[in-house]
Amino acid sequence: MEQLLQQLENYKQEIAETIANTPEAVEAFRIKYLGTKGLLKSVMGEMKQVPNEKKKEFGLILNDFKLFVEEVYEKLKAQGEQESATGNEPGLDWSLPGTPIAVGTRHPLSIVRNEIVSIFKRLGFAVAEGPEIEDDWHNFGAMNLPEDHPARDMQDTFYINQDPAWLLRTHTSSVQARIMEKQKPPIRVICPGRVYRNETISARAHCFFHQVEGLYVDENVSFADLKQTLYFFVQEMFGKDTKVRFRPSYFPFTEPSAEMDISCLICGGDGCNVCKHTGWVEILGSGMVHPKVLENFGIDPNKYTGFAFGMGVERICQLKYRVNDLRLYSQNDVRFLQQFTGAL
Ligand code: PHE
Repeated sequence: MEQLLQQLENYKQEIAETIANTPEAVEAFRIKYLGTKGLLKSVMGEMKQVPNEKKKEFGLILNDFKLFVEEVYEKLKAQGEQESATGNEPGLDWSLPGTPIAVGTRHPLSIVRNEIVSIFKRLGFAVAEGPEIEDDWHNFGAMNLPEDHPARDMQDTFYINQDPAWLLRTHTSSVQARIMEKQKPPIRVICPGRVYRNETISARAHCFFHQVEGLYVDENVSFADLKQTLYFFVQEMFGKDTKVRFRPSYFPFTEPSAEMDISCLICGGDGCNVCKHTGWVEILGSGMVHPKVLENFGIDPNKYTGFAFGMGVERICQLKYRVNDLRLYSQNDVRFLQQFTGAL
């Protein structure tokens, strides 16, 4: 009898310490202790050996034991049901803080490009893209730069496998060519993209950079439209107080051509290093689409006119965020890139 009581105590401890993390484990508990061949049944069987005068006392103890096992079983079952209802894995503490995941930031050039694109979209411009590996015709020929045109020297070109017929586009004007080839006026697109030039890498020059090209061809498009469009862009991009000025320039694919300057954002026009003490910084090239370019695509220059412009994204970004070294954009230094958090 003493021995039996001691054994019951041991079982009680074992049962109290049971962990049942899965429905299978709860079921195994039931079979082990409460099943037809389970422990409870076999302890009940011990009753036979208990002398008659102790039977009553032992019966009460056994009953207590039974209630205890059933209680533990109900508790384990309820725990399992609760965990599966919340989708929690058993044994996991969901209130623990998670492992932080480093959130990336958008590249400053993407931020500025997106902003440029969204301003022109508001004016009704569609967005177009073209290939970075181009043929000579779309990059040069169609844009009124025949083979021995001296202006080809303005843009040091990377050729593919030294084949003069294939190159990395030197400007996004090649996308203009592809658009006019496919589409008839009215055309109103902007073409953001990467361009390549064979230049020695320094703070002020790189072998690749980004441009946004604009093209508007329709009846009665005038130089006044060009000026007003670009003026709107500058005000949206840099603020209402920014002044613009146009200087006559030369591009083979536009006539007349003009470069556009804005009043220096760094010194407010008083003169500083960025504007080389002139108070003005150049941000883009533009002009009225050359009649020859329109003719190259079967567009009648007597009926249609157009304007085009091209700007460097790095330049705009330099002015907006005061980045003074072009190399920073492609070095992937997180200390630089992390500064642009919060911007879209
Ligand atoms: N394609 C010129 C450049 O890369 C920019 C430009 C585009 C000028 C369209 C006029 C019109 O410098």
